[in-house]
Amino acid sequence: MALDLFDLTGKVAMVTGASKGLGKAMSVGLAKAGADLALCARNPGDLRNAASEIATCGTRVETFPMDVLRGQSIREAVDAILARFGRIDILVNNAGVNVRKTTLELSEEEWDRVLDTNLKGYFLVAQAVAPAMIRQGGGKIINLSSIFGAVGMNNQAAYASSKGGIVQLTKVMAIEWARSNIQVNAIGPTYFETPLVATLRNDPERFRFINERTPMGRWGQPEELEGTVIFLAARASDFITGQTVYVDGGWTIW
Ligand SMILES: NC(=O)c1ccc[n+]([C@@H]2O[C@H](COP(=O)([O-])OP(=O)(O)OC[C@H]3O[C@@H](n4cnc5c(N)ncnc54)[C@H](OP(=O)(O)O)[C@@H]3O)[C@@H](O)[C@H]2O)c1
Repeated sequence: MALDLFDLTGKVAMVTGASKGLGKAMSVGLAKAGADLALCARNPGDLRNAASEIATCGTRVETFPMDVLRGQSIREAVDAILARFGRIDILVNNAGVNVRKTTLELSEEEWDRVLDTNLKGYFLVAQAVAPAMIRQGGGKIINLSSIFGAVGMNNQAAYASSKGGIVQLTKVMAIEWARSNIQVNAIGPTYFETPLVATLRNDPERFRFINERTPMGRWGQPEELEGTVIFLAARASDFITGQTVYVDGGWTIW
């Protein structure tokens, strides 16, 4: 059956930034396809709320508070997940932040916070998880980039730099771990309605601009990432590595 290619039953997925927005939506998608979930983010209460929602899909869901800005916190969470589940088959590197300011206004602290979370954090989490995948004989790593990994936008100096960096980090990790049967790919979403972009969503002028700039004429809904994350986590994508899939209603095609 062709659907077997998308079956994640028995797989263990670790998702960072899983308590809200796209991380939560992608966790729901992975759980619907049969995966057990290890949910990571900083706020334990938000994580618990997300876990009870995701558990309604019927697979095992546990929470592991973790701060991707701190290497020690990452290593402790990965060790705890391996102790509880015995393996990690899928890593979704998704935790992210943004500071929208012009290049002249952006402070050094803000630049560091965005780059340390969105780029260094992905490197540290993948570095902590990959040895277990290598021991297991393979795995899938999915990094969240953005349309701004491919095209520019004002007020996004730190964010676009981090997301462009993710496109390149994805290629390097894909090459280094290709012979270990780990496929590393990225997803590049356009504007999706999540807490990260609530201020833009609530600004009528920006909301209209984004609709008009998008060939398909609208924002994405978080559940519209489910298909792509399942595909990249499943056997269906076993010969695809180092790629960025833009889920963007056409934003990056013109
Ligand atoms: N929404 C969009 O339109 C859009 C478009 C393109 C790309 N993306 C990317 O998709 C990813 C998710 O975005 P989103 O819109 O879902 O964001 P969101 O709704 O703001 O959620 C961000 C998640 O990351 C966690 N997080 C933030 N800093 C963290 C840290 N230092 N350590 C661990 N977890 C941390 C947050 O939980 P805690 O605060 O509790 O830690 C939360 O679970 C990001 O990488 C973002 O750049 C989003």
